[in-house]
Amino acid sequence: MTSTPSYRIADLFAERARNLTPPTYGTELTKIITVSFAYGLADPILFPHTDLAAASATVLAQEAPTALNYGPPSDQLYEQIILRLRARGIAADRDRVIIGYGSSQILGLLPDVFVEPGDVVIVEGPTFLGVVNKFANAGAHLITIPVDELGMDVDVLEATLIDLKKQGIRPRFIYTIPTFHNPTGVTMPLFRRKKLVALAAEYGVLVVEDEAYTDLRFRGEVLPPIATLNDEGWVLYVSTFSKTIAPGIRLGWACGDPAIIERLAMFKSEGPVGPFVSHVVAHYCATGKLDNHIQDLIACYQHKCNLMLEAIAHEFPSDVVALRPDGGFFVWCKLPPDISANTLLTAASEHGVTFLPGTRCYANGQGDDAIRLAFSFQPTEKIVEGIAILGSVLRELRR
Ligand SMILES: Cc1ncc(COP(=O)(O)O)c(C=O)c1O
Repeated sequence: MTSTPSYRIADLFAERARNLTPPTYGTELTKIITVSFAYGLADPILFPHTDLAAASATVLAQEAPTALNYGPPSDQLYEQIILRLRARGIAADRDRVIIGYGSSQILGLLPDVFVEPGDVVIVEGPTFLGVVNKFANAGAHLITIPVDELGMDVDVLEATLIDLKKQGIRPRFIYTIPTFHNPTGVTMPLFRRKKLVALAAEYGVLVVEDEAYTDLRFRGEVLPPIATLNDEGWVLYVSTFSKTIAPGIRLGWACGDPAIIERLAMFKSEGPVGPFVSHVVAHYCATGKLDNHIQDLIACYQHKCNLMLEAIAHEFPSDVVALRPDGGFFVWCKLPPDISANTLLTAASEHGVTFLPGTRCYANGQGDDAIRLAFSFQPTEKIVEGIAILGSVLRELRR
């Protein structure tokens, strides 16, 4: 009898897959968590399920042969997305738009189009690692530009671009979240947006503008997207219905230079998105109900954000600095030097509360001095309860 050689499946993994570690949130998985501020989730109570049910019924009654078949997404969905982009002042046309299974899918395709192993990609610190890790996994060499209360520090960006140019290096793209940034909640003012795009044009680098939260503004003036500040194609604008309709519909889009859109589509080998959901969402948007729905979301998230900020002011030591966002899902808290975000997470999870430590938001290992608290998902009473517990854990750590 021949003996079976002792092969291991793990030896088949490509290098990039072998070195991956599955995501965990520290001790969270082993403890009973009663209040999680960890995830940037929409509040499910707010999903427009009745209106989506009505739109689904209409699609099944009137468009079943196409909506339930293999085929492209609904033309009307492109039209609705183009209308929304144009309302923001963005020059959108069919050949400038790609729809994907969430904006993260499209962002994840960028390395296919732009990055050879070792190429430089510029990201913010902190940032949304959910997509930035995809750039790194594709072999990009990430350079982190700090974010302050006004978003990406464009002076540091300028110095970095000058330095890279001296070395003969042209970065492939700059990934930024200018409005209600994930994780800090901050918004980049107009003067920085202008400087950012001017630098991009001067140094020949694409700006990838991720506007996932932009519809959810609850104070301050509406600012022009960076994509409207340049007409030479240096900005790829990316957004999603995940924060306004529901993440489970998995619909996001990008708008930019047709040559980029064409190449992204070529790497999106499974085709655009599911026809059925595209028909349903197109119908829902065409009723005009989405804009009213967004107003309801804004009122709810504003209330939750204010509640969290008030609770923080009341419960946290005064040297914890909470940034006040103008919209979105997150409050970012800078911790005093004697408190580590990860030590706080371990202690807080013992008491049933969790959050995202800043270390999960930096590509360069920084961030143990800050935490991200998502107010979007928890019911109001849980926000108050969770912040009170975090406050007492913070005080306990100081004893
Ligand atoms: C900044 C940012 N971009 C993109 C996404 C991904 O959204 P989608 O559900 O469209 O993939 C998220 C989701 O949390 C996000 O925070």
